[in-house]
Amino acid sequence: MADPLVYLNGNFVPYADARLGVEDRSVQFGDGVYEVVRYYDGRAFKMESHMRRLARSAAGIELTIPPVEEISRAMDKLVRRQNLQDAAVYLQITRGETARVQGIPRGLSPNVIAIARPASSVRPMPGMKVVTQSDDRWARCNLKTTMLLPAMLARSRAERLGAADAVFIRDGFVTEATAANVFVVRDGTVLTPPLSNYLLAGCTREALLELYAANGITAREELITHADLLAADEVFLTSTNSELRPVIAIDGRPVGSGEVGPLFARTLSLFDAATRTAVLA
Ligand SMILES: Cc1ncc(COP(=O)(O)O)c(C=O)c1O
Repeated sequence: MADPLVYLNGNFVPYADARLGVEDRSVQFGDGVYEVVRYYDGRAFKMESHMRRLARSAAGIELTIPPVEEISRAMDKLVRRQNLQDAAVYLQITRGETARVQGIPRGLSPNVIAIARPASSVRPMPGMKVVTQSDDRWARCNLKTTMLLPAMLARSRAERLGAADAVFIRDGFVTEATAANVFVVRDGTVLTPPLSNYLLAGCTREALLELYAANGITAREELITHADLLAADEVFLTSTNSELRPVIAIDGRPVGSGEVGPLFARTLSLFDAATRTAVLA
Protein backbone atom coordinates (compact mmCIF):
# COMPACT_ATOMS: atom_id res chain seq x y z
CA MET A 1 0.00 0.00 0.00
CA ALA A 2 1.16 3.53 -0.74
CA ASP A 3 1.54 5.80 2.26
CA PRO A 4 -1.76 5.83 4.12
CA LEU A 5 -3.94 8.86 4.46
CA VAL A 6 -3.92 10.30 7.99
CA TYR A 7 -6.88 11.67 9.88
CA LEU A 8 -5.63 14.60 11.92
CA ASN A 9 -7.99 16.80 13.93
CA GLY A 10 -10.87 16.78 11.48
CA ASN A 11 -8.85 16.69 8.25
CA PHE A 12 -7.69 13.88 5.99
CA VAL A 13 -4.10 14.68 5.10
CA PRO A 14 -1.32 12.94 3.13
CA TYR A 15 1.02 10.91 5.35
CA ALA A 16 4.01 13.19 4.64
CA ASP A 17 2.06 16.27 5.73
CA ALA A 18 0.70 14.83 8.98
CA ARG A 19 2.78 16.35 11.77
CA LEU A 20 2.65 16.85 15.53
CA GLY A 21 4.74 19.36 17.45
CA VAL A 22 7.87 18.35 19.32
CA GLU A 23 6.24 19.35 22.61
CA ASP A 24 3.16 17.24 22.16
CA ARG A 25 2.38 15.55 25.47
CA SER A 26 2.56 12.15 23.80
CA VAL A 27 6.19 12.85 22.90
CA GLN A 28 7.01 14.14 26.37
CA PHE A 29 5.11 11.67 28.53
CA GLY A 30 3.24 9.10 26.47
CA ASP A 31 0.27 11.20 27.58
CA GLY A 32 -2.54 9.86 25.45
CA VAL A 33 -5.02 7.08 24.87
CA TYR A 34 -5.51 4.84 21.87
CA GLU A 35 -7.60 2.18 20.22
CA VAL A 36 -7.15 -0.26 17.39
CA VAL A 37 -10.32 -1.13 15.49
CA ARG A 38 -10.50 -3.90 12.94
CA TYR A 39 -12.57 -3.68 9.77
CA TYR A 40 -13.78 -6.81 8.01
CA ASP A 41 -15.29 -6.52 4.54
CA GLY A 42 -15.32 -2.77 5.04
CA ARG A 43 -17.28 -2.90 8.33
CA ALA A 44 -15.96 -2.10 11.79
CA PHE A 45 -16.03 -4.97 14.28
CA LYS A 46 -17.17 -4.06 17.82
CA MET A 47 -16.90 -0.30 17.20
CA GLU A 48 -19.27 0.54 20.06
CA SER A 49 -17.19 -1.44 22.55
CA HIS A 50 -14.02 0.27 21.33
CA MET A 51 -15.62 3.71 21.66
CA ARG A 52 -16.94 2.93 25.17
CA ARG A 53 -13.47 1.86 26.22
CA LEU A 54 -11.91 4.94 24.60
CA ALA A 55 -14.24 7.13 26.65
CA ARG A 56 -13.34 5.21 29.84
CA SER A 57 -9.61 5.42 29.12
CA ALA A 58 -9.84 9.17 28.45
CA ALA A 59 -11.84 9.77 31.65
CA GLY A 60 -9.29 7.66 33.53
CA ILE A 61 -6.44 9.99 32.54
CA GLU A 62 -8.57 13.16 32.97
CA LEU A 63 -8.59 13.88 29.24
CA THR A 64 -11.58 15.48 27.53
CA ILE A 65 -12.03 14.09 24.04
CA PRO A 66 -14.34 14.91 21.13
CA PRO A 67 -17.64 12.98 20.98
CA VAL A 68 -16.94 9.34 20.21
CA GLU A 69 -19.55 9.38 17.40
CA GLU A 70 -17.37 11.95 15.62
CA ILE A 71 -14.31 9.75 16.11
CA SER A 72 -15.93 6.55 14.86
CA ARG A 73 -17.32 8.40 11.81
CA ALA A 74 -13.82 9.68 11.02
CA MET A 75 -12.44 6.14 11.23
CA ASP A 76 -15.16 4.84 8.91
CA LYS A 77 -14.40 7.61 6.42
CA LEU A 78 -10.68 6.88 6.55
CA VAL A 79 -11.34 3.26 5.60
CA ARG A 80 -13.87 4.12 2.90
CA ARG A 81 -11.78 6.85 1.27
CA GLN A 82 -8.96 4.36 0.77
CA ASN A 83 -11.28 1.58 -0.41
CA LEU A 84 -10.03 -0.76 2.30
CA GLN A 85 -11.95 -3.95 3.04
CA ASP A 86 -9.92 -5.71 5.73
CA ALA A 87 -8.07 -3.09 7.71
CA ALA A 88 -6.82 -2.08 11.13
CA VAL A 89 -7.30 1.52 12.20
CA TYR A 90 -4.97 2.92 14.83
CA LEU A 91 -6.49 5.83 16.68
CA GLN A 92 -4.61 7.96 19.15
CA ILE A 93 -5.69 11.00 21.13
CA THR A 94 -2.90 12.94 22.76
CA ARG A 95 -3.44 15.60 25.39
CA GLY A 96 -2.04 18.26 23.05
CA GLU A 97 0.96 20.56 22.94
CA THR A 98 2.53 22.79 25.53
CA ALA A 99 5.87 23.55 27.14
CA ARG A 100 6.78 20.57 29.31
CA VAL A 101 5.22 20.61 32.75
CA GLN A 102 4.70 17.53 34.84
CA GLY A 103 1.18 18.33 36.06
CA ILE A 104 -1.82 18.00 33.80
CA PRO A 105 -2.25 21.34 31.98
CA ARG A 106 -5.89 22.34 31.49
CA GLY A 107 -7.42 23.75 28.35
CA LEU A 108 -5.15 22.11 25.78
CA SER A 109 -6.55 21.00 22.42
CA PRO A 110 -6.16 17.25 22.14
CA ASN A 111 -4.64 15.91 18.93
CA VAL A 112 -6.75 13.20 17.31
CA ILE A 113 -4.87 10.98 14.87
CA ALA A 114 -6.03 7.94 12.95
CA ILE A 115 -4.22 5.76 10.40
CA ALA A 116 -5.79 2.83 8.54
CA ARG A 117 -3.70 0.04 7.10
CA PRO A 118 -4.71 -3.16 5.32
CA ALA A 119 -4.86 -6.16 7.65
CA SER A 120 -5.23 -9.78 6.73
CA SER A 121 -6.30 -12.80 8.76
CA VAL A 122 -3.76 -15.62 8.93
CA ARG A 123 -5.46 -19.04 8.62
CA PRO A 124 -4.75 -21.56 9.97
CA MET A 125 -3.36 -19.71 12.97
CA PRO A 126 0.04 -21.15 13.82
CA GLY A 127 0.72 -22.15 17.43
CA MET A 128 2.88 -19.73 19.40
CA LYS A 129 5.29 -20.00 22.31
CA VAL A 130 5.02 -17.69 25.29
CA VAL A 131 6.91 -17.13 28.51
CA THR A 132 5.51 -16.04 31.84
CA GLN A 133 6.72 -12.86 33.44
CA SER A 134 6.04 -10.99 36.65
CA ASP A 135 3.51 -8.22 35.96
CA ASP A 136 5.52 -5.12 36.77
CA ARG A 137 3.22 -2.70 34.93
CA TRP A 138 1.20 -0.08 36.77
CA ALA A 139 -2.11 -0.69 38.53
CA ARG A 140 -4.31 0.98 35.88
CA CYS A 141 -3.99 -1.59 33.10
CA ASN A 142 -7.72 -1.22 32.42
CA LEU A 143 -6.88 2.09 30.70
CA LYS A 144 -5.58 1.86 27.15
CA THR A 145 -2.87 4.49 27.31
CA THR A 146 0.07 5.00 24.97
CA MET A 147 2.48 4.60 27.89
CA LEU A 148 3.55 1.06 26.97
CA LEU A 149 7.18 0.70 28.03
CA PRO A 150 6.65 -2.15 30.54
CA ALA A 151 4.74 -4.14 27.90
CA MET A 152 7.43 -3.42 25.30
CA LEU A 153 10.18 -4.57 27.64
CA ALA A 154 8.26 -7.75 28.47
CA ARG A 155 7.74 -8.49 24.76
CA SER A 156 11.41 -7.87 24.10
CA ARG A 157 12.43 -10.24 26.92
CA ALA A 158 10.05 -12.89 25.55
CA GLU A 159 11.61 -12.55 22.10
CA ARG A 160 15.11 -12.87 23.57
CA LEU A 161 13.95 -16.13 25.14
CA GLY A 162 12.71 -17.44 21.79
CA ALA A 163 9.01 -16.82 22.47
CA ALA A 164 6.50 -14.60 20.70
CA ASP A 165 4.88 -13.04 23.75
CA ALA A 166 4.79 -12.90 27.54
CA VAL A 167 1.88 -13.71 29.84
CA PHE A 168 1.91 -11.53 32.93
CA ILE A 169 1.52 -13.04 36.40
CA ARG A 170 0.57 -10.73 39.28
CA ASP A 171 0.61 -12.10 42.83
CA GLY A 172 0.35 -15.64 41.45
CA PHE A 173 -2.55 -14.92 39.07
CA VAL A 174 -2.64 -14.53 35.29
CA THR A 175 -3.60 -11.02 34.21
CA GLU A 176 -3.08 -10.81 30.42
CA ALA A 177 -0.38 -10.90 27.73
CA THR A 178 1.56 -7.82 26.60
CA ALA A 179 -1.13 -6.84 24.08
CA ALA A 180 -3.80 -9.51 24.37
CA ASN A 181 -6.17 -11.21 26.80
CA VAL A 182 -5.65 -14.78 27.95
CA PHE A 183 -8.10 -17.68 27.74
CA VAL A 184 -7.49 -21.19 29.03
CA VAL A 185 -9.46 -24.40 28.55
CA ARG A 186 -9.78 -26.85 31.42
CA ASP A 187 -11.91 -29.99 31.18
CA GLY A 188 -13.96 -28.54 28.32
CA THR A 189 -14.66 -25.22 30.08
CA VAL A 190 -13.22 -21.96 28.80
CA LEU A 191 -11.86 -19.60 31.46
CA THR A 192 -10.56 -16.05 31.32
CA PRO A 193 -9.54 -13.79 34.22
CA PRO A 194 -12.31 -11.46 35.48
CA LEU A 195 -12.05 -7.77 34.63
CA SER A 196 -10.15 -5.62 37.09
CA ASN A 197 -7.81 -2.66 37.05
CA TYR A 198 -4.98 -5.11 36.28
CA LEU A 199 -6.09 -5.97 32.76
CA LEU A 200 -7.66 -4.43 29.71
CA ALA A 201 -11.30 -5.18 28.94
CA GLY A 202 -10.56 -6.58 25.49
CA CYS A 203 -13.20 -6.15 22.81
CA THR A 204 -12.18 -9.51 21.32
CA ARG A 205 -12.49 -11.05 24.80
CA GLU A 206 -15.99 -9.58 25.07
CA ALA A 207 -16.90 -10.89 21.61
CA LEU A 208 -15.79 -14.41 22.55
CA LEU A 209 -17.75 -14.41 25.80
CA GLU A 210 -20.84 -13.37 23.80
CA LEU A 211 -20.21 -16.08 21.22
CA TYR A 212 -19.75 -18.76 23.88
CA ALA A 213 -23.01 -17.75 25.57
CA ALA A 214 -24.88 -17.75 22.25
CA ASN A 215 -23.49 -21.14 21.22
CA GLY A 216 -23.88 -23.11 24.44
CA ILE A 217 -20.15 -23.34 25.20
CA THR A 218 -19.38 -23.20 28.92
CA ALA A 219 -17.19 -20.19 29.60
CA ARG A 220 -16.53 -18.36 32.85
CA GLU A 221 -14.62 -15.33 34.09
CA GLU A 222 -12.52 -16.83 36.85
CA LEU A 223 -9.17 -16.20 38.51
CA ILE A 224 -6.45 -18.30 36.87
CA THR A 225 -3.32 -19.12 38.85
CA HIS A 226 0.13 -19.52 37.36
CA ALA A 227 -0.20 -23.27 38.06
CA ASP A 228 -3.64 -23.38 36.32
CA LEU A 229 -2.07 -21.78 33.26
CA LEU A 230 0.71 -24.35 33.09
CA ALA A 231 -1.75 -27.24 33.60
CA ALA A 232 -4.37 -26.05 31.07
CA ASP A 233 -5.53 -28.27 28.20
CA GLU A 234 -5.51 -25.29 25.84
CA VAL A 235 -4.41 -21.67 26.07
CA PHE A 236 -5.03 -18.87 23.59
CA LEU A 237 -4.58 -15.12 23.32
CA THR A 238 -7.06 -12.65 21.90
CA SER A 239 -6.65 -9.16 20.50
CA THR A 240 -7.97 -6.93 17.75
CA ASN A 241 -4.67 -6.88 15.88
CA SER A 242 -3.76 -10.57 16.11
CA GLU A 243 -7.30 -11.96 16.50
CA LEU A 244 -7.00 -15.38 18.21
CA ARG A 245 -3.66 -17.10 18.65
CA PRO A 246 -3.22 -20.59 20.09
CA VAL A 247 -0.41 -21.04 22.61
CA ILE A 248 1.39 -24.38 22.24
CA ALA A 249 4.23 -23.90 24.73
CA ILE A 250 4.71 -21.93 27.93
CA ASP A 251 8.17 -21.46 29.43
CA GLY A 252 9.45 -24.22 27.17
CA ARG A 253 6.81 -26.79 28.21
CA PRO A 254 4.00 -27.96 25.90
CA VAL A 255 0.43 -26.84 26.54
CA GLY A 256 -1.78 -29.94 26.65
CA SER A 257 -0.76 -32.17 23.76
CA GLY A 258 1.40 -29.40 22.30
CA GLU A 259 -0.98 -29.13 19.35
CA VAL A 260 -3.68 -26.57 18.57
CA GLY A 261 -6.73 -27.78 20.53
CA PRO A 262 -10.37 -28.45 19.56
CA LEU A 263 -11.89 -25.58 21.54
CA PHE A 264 -9.54 -23.15 19.88
CA ALA A 265 -10.58 -24.45 16.47
CA ARG A 266 -14.27 -24.12 17.38
CA THR A 267 -13.72 -20.63 18.77
CA LEU A 268 -11.89 -19.49 15.65
CA SER A 269 -14.65 -20.69 13.35
CA LEU A 270 -17.28 -18.87 15.46
CA PHE A 271 -15.12 -15.76 15.46
CA ASP A 272 -14.61 -15.85 11.70
CA ALA A 273 -18.34 -16.25 11.14
CA ALA A 274 -19.02 -13.29 13.47
CA THR A 275 -16.46 -10.97 11.91
CA ARG A 276 -17.47 -11.74 8.37
CA THR A 277 -21.18 -11.28 8.94
CA ALA A 278 -20.87 -8.60 11.64
CA VAL A 279 -23.30 -10.49 13.88
CA LEU A 280 -21.82 -8.72 16.85
CA ALA A 281 -22.29 -4.96 16.75
C1 LIG B 1 -2.70 -5.05 27.25
C2 LIG B 1 -3.77 -5.51 26.32
N1 LIG B 1 -4.66 -6.42 26.74
C3 LIG B 1 -5.64 -6.87 25.93
C4 LIG B 1 -5.76 -6.42 24.63
C5 LIG B 1 -6.87 -6.96 23.75
O1 LIG B 1 -7.86 -5.99 23.56
P1 LIG B 1 -8.74 -5.97 22.23
O2 LIG B 1 -9.32 -7.34 22.07
O3 LIG B 1 -9.78 -4.95 22.50
O4 LIG B 1 -7.84 -5.61 21.11
C6 LIG B 1 -4.86 -5.46 24.15
C7 LIG B 1 -5.00 -4.96 22.77
O5 LIG B 1 -4.12 -4.36 22.23
C8 LIG B 1 -3.85 -4.99 25.01
O6 LIG B 1 -2.96 -4.07 24.60
